[in-house]
Amino acid sequence: MSPPKPPSRPDRVSLWRYMQLFRADILSAQPARLYRAWMAEFRTPFFRSFLMNQPDLVKTVLKDRPDDFPKSDRIGEGLRPLLGNSVFLTNGDVWKRQRRIIDPAFEGGRLRETFPAIWNASEAAAGRLQEGVSEIEAQTSHAAADVIFRTLFSIPIENELAAAVFEEFRTYQRSQPILNLAAFVPLPRWMPRLFRGDTRASAARIRALITQLVVQRADEIALGTAPQDLATKIMTTADPVTGETFSPEEMVDQVAIFFLAGHETSASALAWALYLMALYPDWQDKVAAEAQALEICDFSVMSKLPITRDVFRETLRLYPPVPMMVRQATQTEQFRDRSAPRGSQLVISPWHLHRHERLWERPDDFDPARWHTENGKSCQRDAYIPFSAGARVCTGAGFAMVEGVLILARLLRDFEVETVPNRDPVPVAHLTVRARDGIWLNLRKRQR
Ligand code: HEM
Repeated sequence: MSPPKPPSRPDRVSLWRYMQLFRADILSAQPARLYRAWMAEFRTPFFRSFLMNQPDLVKTVLKDRPDDFPKSDRIGEGLRPLLGNSVFLTNGDVWKRQRRIIDPAFEGGRLRETFPAIWNASEAAAGRLQEGVSEIEAQTSHAAADVIFRTLFSIPIENELAAAVFEEFRTYQRSQPILNLAAFVPLPRWMPRLFRGDTRASAARIRALITQLVVQRADEIALGTAPQDLATKIMTTADPVTGETFSPEEMVDQVAIFFLAGHETSASALAWALYLMALYPDWQDKVAAEAQALEICDFSVMSKLPITRDVFRETLRLYPPVPMMVRQATQTEQFRDRSAPRGSQLVISPWHLHRHERLWERPDDFDPARWHTENGKSCQRDAYIPFSAGARVCTGAGFAMVEGVLILARLLRDFEVETVPNRDPVPVAHLTVRARDGIWLNLRKRQR
């Protein structure tokens, strides 16, 4: 039996119907042929967009010529009140400078130093779990938020400021789903923007809270009492080219995106991974057996979790937390036999690429062993982009692979998970790929 996949829409629907479907869920708004197509074009009165589903086209856009395919200004519109000039939204020289300052904090060596904070968050997450039926996304969301605060600011989620930021983000997401229609469909400039008053107010409150954390930290750095965590590293790194460090406001922008990009995504992946473990108990047993190695907090333990890693990687294939990404053509481009005019929206869909029927063997099956087959290896190289690829690859990719694998193993060390009858999750894409009515699991303490 294959794990849940959303239904596709009929091949031809009216624009109006497409918009309706799109608003409900981007995944089921697409036709099934996208799982076989190399490229597809959507023409509407307002915009033309092209879905690129062929590995070498994806490579051209993300890896070979990223400067020619920036993020569209309009994609950031819904996010700007919250994220300001954060690295997720900027382009060109500003973006390059920001990455030069941020990237060193996430390098391999640093990851080792960050590990104890991630470990402590995994212990805390296991401690919060209880036996019985519960909605697991709420738990993984809590755990992922805890990881961000511990690694960035050396504070747990119980800290007053951290808890307030977490709570405000939830309010924000309820009022403004971030990967919403406006983010994908660049509306004409004359159309009124529907920022709700409460969205702006909520964004302002989040930024005020984060500003307190940043100002506090700047003082500690000045006094020489700052802990050596990601915030200190980023705030004390000077751009090697210009010699500048981030201004406090720019740091607030970056913290907001770390929280957003690093928390929803990891929470979604972990929740799906746990669900898949409930669906495939053989794999769950293997992960639980590996997890016995989690005794002392030492980075080397990561090398003892190869099966958990394969499981997490397979989860990211089937349920990529960021299902689609959009870029803009800055000049007319020729892709296959189509000409994409300047300004076209280019959609890259990890969701479709990861389940492409002409690339993957048994694309809809859950099979963590595939990564050791020829097909799995070549697809991992060419058709697997849960963290995007090229210059704009996710800054937190290495971090997320440690966090996800460790927490998955840690939770399964203590608990057995089972599916709940009549509660099969239905994947839908809003900000990230989530389950329409949550992911419900029955938890039982594992006998060791
Ligand atoms: C399973 C977890 C994660 C997944 C699947 C994921 C996926 C992605 C993807 C696909 C992008 C590219 C988006 C685009 O180009 O439109 C991205 C960008 C980004 N991610 Fe992640 N991410 C994860 C975790 C994290 C974590 C833990 C952090 C930080 C602590 C993080 C920070 C960022 C940042 C700052 C960017 C913007 C990079 C840029 O545009 O230069 N992510 N992520």
